[in-house]
Amino acid sequence: MHVQATDQRWPWWPLLPLYPYGRRRTLVRELIPEQLWSFEQLQGIFYVAVPIRMTVARVRGGLMLYAPVPPTAELLSRLRELEQRHGPVRSIVLPTASGLEHKLPVPAMARAFPDAEVWVTPGQWSFPLQLPLAWLGFPAARTRVLGDQGFPHADELQWLSLGPIDLGLGRFHELTCLHRPSGALLLTDALVAIPAEPPPLFDLDPTPLLFHARDRGDQPLSDTLEQRRRGWRRLALFASFLRPQALEVPGLSQLLAQAFAPGCRNRRTYFGFYPFHWRASSDEAFLALTPGRLQVAPVLERLVFPRARTVVLRWLEQLVGLTELRWVVPAHYDAPVPLSGDALQNLLEQTRQRPWAPEQGDWAYLARIDALLLRSGVVPAEPQD
Ligand SMILES: [Fe+2]
Repeated sequence: MHVQATDQRWPWWPLLPLYPYGRRRTLVRELIPEQLWSFEQLQGIFYVAVPIRMTVARVRGGLMLYAPVPPTAELLSRLRELEQRHGPVRSIVLPTASGLEHKLPVPAMARAFPDAEVWVTPGQWSFPLQLPLAWLGFPAARTRVLGDQGFPHADELQWLSLGPIDLGLGRFHELTCLHRPSGALLLTDALVAIPAEPPPLFDLDPTPLLFHARDRGDQPLSDTLEQRRRGWRRLALFASFLRPQALEVPGLSQLLAQAFAPGCRNRRTYFGFYPFHWRASSDEAFLALTPGRLQVAPVLERLVFPRARTVVLRWLEQLVGLTELRWVVPAHYDAPVPLSGDALQNLLEQTRQRPWAPEQGDWAYLARIDALLLRSGVVPAEPQD
């Protein structure tokens, strides 16, 4: 299929100005034959772009969209193809109370499918203003609240709640579900498996990888397999820890001295502005992210769950009871991730026993943010659930 740049337009990008701004390419993959599909796009700031996924699940009589991404013309035409084969989009699910990047695309997706029901996680909050859902463009007449008003496709999906956890400013809450026909657990942000190699989505546009593969701003972008890998490891570290130990932020004078170097006087390199310096140890730090293994997302462990390990444990314990569970499909990074009963037991044991929400090394920056929020009374010392 030939795709034009205009098919990848997303006019609402100023609402959350993340790379790649107004142009989004979509990678569509079948995850489980005839049952589950992944629609991935890039999102990020300063080229710290990580893939974000909408999962499309086949349900009785049609399709369910779980955690929508922006509905560009390209994405809609691929969805229409699926509709022709498997029936109409019956429901659109916003499975998180807090993840803004998952919430913003929902109203536009709802307009594209005027007959679909819209289901949202309870306790939606918008920061800094608490706006009613209708103001954000959610169609009031066909929007339902998950749990409070039932669950969609309850005969084929088993719904499991992670949270809510009181975060002071709002709350964290994810509604995960086991899609029985495929044996896949759909979730948003809680668990991730960070792939060792750059995700295939970057084949469409490797710029963010090449951007971060450099050590300083005056190096032009060069596209080799090794550079792509290096860029990927650093992006994953950045997205996991916000400011990993191997990263140094140079002073302004150094930044300016390296800007506008020959080969960098173009938009793609931000004219040589590159606000990061990497130490060689970034490779070791990446290995500590246990690439390929399912884990609690570090940024959530340190900022959302630091005093709520039991909430995560209770949810994991419920998963043990799901005999049909074979796969996990999160909204970021790898999918589908195979999950055997043994691997789940391991994850549960680890979560119970290992030091939780550490404060040293790569975790130090997140720990400082958490301490600051706690000290200033923004987050409660004892989270209520
Ligand atoms: Fe997310």
